[in-house]
Amino acid sequence: MIELAPSILSADFAHLADQVRAATEGGAGLLHVDVMDGHFVPNITIGPPVVASLRKATELPLDCHLMIENPDQFIPDFVSAGADWISIHQEACRHLNRSLELIRHHGAQVGVVINPATPVSTLSEVLDIVDYVLVMSVNPGFGGQKFIPGALHKIRQLAELRTSRNLRFRIEVDGGVAHDTVASVVRAGAEILVAGSAVFGRGDPKVNAQNLLKAAMEATLQKV
Ligand code: DX5
Ligand code: ZN
Repeated sequence: MIELAPSILSADFAHLADQVRAATEGGAGLLHVDVMDGHFVPNITIGPPVVASLRKATELPLDCHLMIENPDQFIPDFVSAGADWISIHQEACRHLNRSLELIRHHGAQVGVVINPATPVSTLSEVLDIVDYVLVMSVNPGFGGQKFIPGALHKIRQLAELRTSRNLRFRIEVDGGVAHDTVASVVRAGAEILVAGSAVFGRGDPKVNAQNLLKAAMEATLQKV
């Protein structure tokens, strides 16, 4: 099943609830929340208070992508604020297994993320304890960047590993997913599509979400 996860990073923060409502009407399945600390990535965004406000404004699952150092320190706060899914970067965790188990312990869906320069092989020992793997198709930190095609073989590799090891994690892709790239990520095997500027960048988020989902569904039909 394909799901669209609009990233609020490109939304108008002064009208967040309206923008989220429009994306929801366009078929969004979950809401992607980009959390940046100015250390792990060269940008700062939002923290638990905004997640708590979003929690009251939408019934969509909140997919919190933590681009932060020392995520263990903040996982409980994000869950208390209303995060349903939490993903953390392989590159930010010295004790990745422990940090992923901490997310599980707090009751959220467990996700692990890899940057464009990080191979899938670095996840071999944790694939059996995650609910989803997020493949970055841009270097994290900013919306509106160009899709890095190397993500495609990583998505394919994950899909193959899942079959060969009889695992159940889902595959999410984040960065540069737009009308011109959505078909290729879906054909490679991505199931959760994060899109920021393609949904909120310009025009009506509802129409943008509908068009992206339509293109994604068409690509699944073409997948043989
Ligand atoms: C980048 C973020 C993305 C970002 C994607 O660090 O993780 O979620 O919002 O934005 P687009 O879809 O514009 O590449
Ligand atoms: Zn993200």
